[in-house]
Parts: sequence; C-alpha cells; structure tokens
Amino acid sequence: MSVPVQTDPFFGRQDHVDALRRVAHDVSTGHPAFVIMRGEAGIGKTRLVSEFSRELSANDWLVRIGGCTPLIGPPLAFGPSAAASGGGGQHWWTPEPRRPETTAPVLDQIGDGLLGTLANEQTRKPVAIVLEDLHWADRSSMALLAFVVRGLAESRRVLIWATAREEYGPDDEHEVELVLSELIRRELTVTLPIGQLTATDVRQVALAVAGAGADPEWIESIVRRSAGNPYFAR
Ligand SMILES: Nc1ncnc2c1ncn2[C@@H]1O[C@H](COP(=O)(O)OP(=O)(O)OP(=O)(O)O)[C@@H](O)[C@H]1O
Ligand SMILES: [Mg+2]
Repeated sequence: MSVPVQTDPFFGRQDHVDALRRVAHDVSTGHPAFVIMRGEAGIGKTRLVSEFSRELSANDWLVRIGGCTPLIGPPLAFGPSAAASGGGGQHWWTPEPRRPETTAPVLDQIGDGLLGTLANEQTRKPVAIVLEDLHWADRSSMALLAFVVRGLAESRRVLIWATAREEYGPDDEHEVELVLSELIRRELTVTLPIGQLTATDVRQVALAVAGAGADPEWIESIVRRSAGNPYFAR
C-alpha cells in the first residue's frame, strides 16, 4: 500500500513526531529499530502512520505499509507482511524448497527471503515497513514478525513499525500478546504508546470539521465527550 494522502489538518502529537524522528535518524545511520505503537481504536495510530510516512518518503525513504484484515473469516497467513512487501510476496521468499519433504514454504525460508530483500533494499535507501493493526494478525504473521525483528542485523537501515489496538481480537489474542511482550525486551525495540490528544488539540479537530462559526458550547461538549479521542471529535 502506498502512503495515503490526508487533506484535513493534523494537530498535536509533537512528542510522537519528535520520537519518531529520533528513531528514523538512528535507523538511517545504521541502527535498525522496531517500533510498537499501541492505543485504543480511533486514537490516531493510522493518522500518525500516514503523516510520518509522508515525511519519511519526502526524505527519500522507501516506505511500505501493510495492514491486517479484520477478523471476518479466517485470518490471512502472512497477510500484513505480504502486503508490506509490495503485494503477492513472491519476490521476497524463495520458491525452491530447501526441504524436499515439504511443499509449503516454511517460516525460515520466508523470513530469510524477507530479510534478504530488506538487506538489499536498504543499501539504496533506508526502508520503513509499517504493519498496521496487529490485533488482527494471525499466528503466521506474528511468527514472521518475530523472526524478522530477531534477524535484523546491526547496520541494516530498516525500521519496522507495528501498530495495534490495546484490545486484541478473539482468536490470536494470546499469540499477539506473547510475541509483542517478547519483542519489547529486545534492544532495538522502541515502545511508543499513543494516548489521548490534549483538549486544545481535540478542540482544533472539532473546529476544523465544524468550521470557525460553530457554537462554542457545542464544540466544548464535543471536547468533553471525546475524552481525547479524535475519532469522536469528527
Ligand atoms: N492528530 C490528529 N489530528 C487530526 N485528526 C486526527 C488526528 N489523529 C487522528 N485523527 C483523525 O481521527 C480519526 C481516527 O484516527 P485513526 O484512524 O488514525 O485512528 P486509529 O487509532 O488508527 O483507529 P483504529 O484502531 O480503528 O484503526 C481519523 O479521521 C483521523 O484522521
Ligand atoms: Mg487505524
């Protein structure tokens, strides 16, 4: 998925942008990073991804965004990483089976293929892989994520940025929590929780939607009821 263009104004989140700039600087000087950004539904994960991905692209990064499919039916194996790899996934895993007894690709083949592609690509420009909505990820996607984060060699200019709601889906709840809590302990991991916007920022969001002539009392009631969640101020 390419970086989406957002036309309505973006408010606040300066601390997050500053933190992401520091991480991006470290990555671009050869220190790979894994960012985990968790927060409630509607709080602004996707919006921050879109704003900061645009900044990275403008700074000549290669940015790929992949998302998990909402849990309607069986989750998609390796879904987010396949999407983030540019679709299809064929170009980052090797089809020749290294283990003749298996016909399906095995995790380490796929993981090595993805790590190889990233190693190649980051020689030209720093690479950011965004994996959105991990609360919907299936086991294979989480296993691949763990494999790739563990296998990112020092000196690779690669940023992996995962987002997830705090509340997980019903099926892979345990797996998602297990993998993230293991990865959180790694040295390259940066946890960047995303919480409420300030009342000033939410007011700006509401005013941008309602227009400057909106009734101030009505705007204030939106600010109160939104509890810092921009989704409810729109
Ligand atoms: N800082 C912000 N300034 C202005 N609008 C914002 C900001 N953050 C989020 N929004 C808007 O609020 C709405 C919800 O944000 P977003 O979709 O990013 O939430 P989310 O955390 O990704 O939610 P979900 O968990 O459902 O994916 C969107 O319309 C988005 O553009
Ligand atoms: Mg989102």
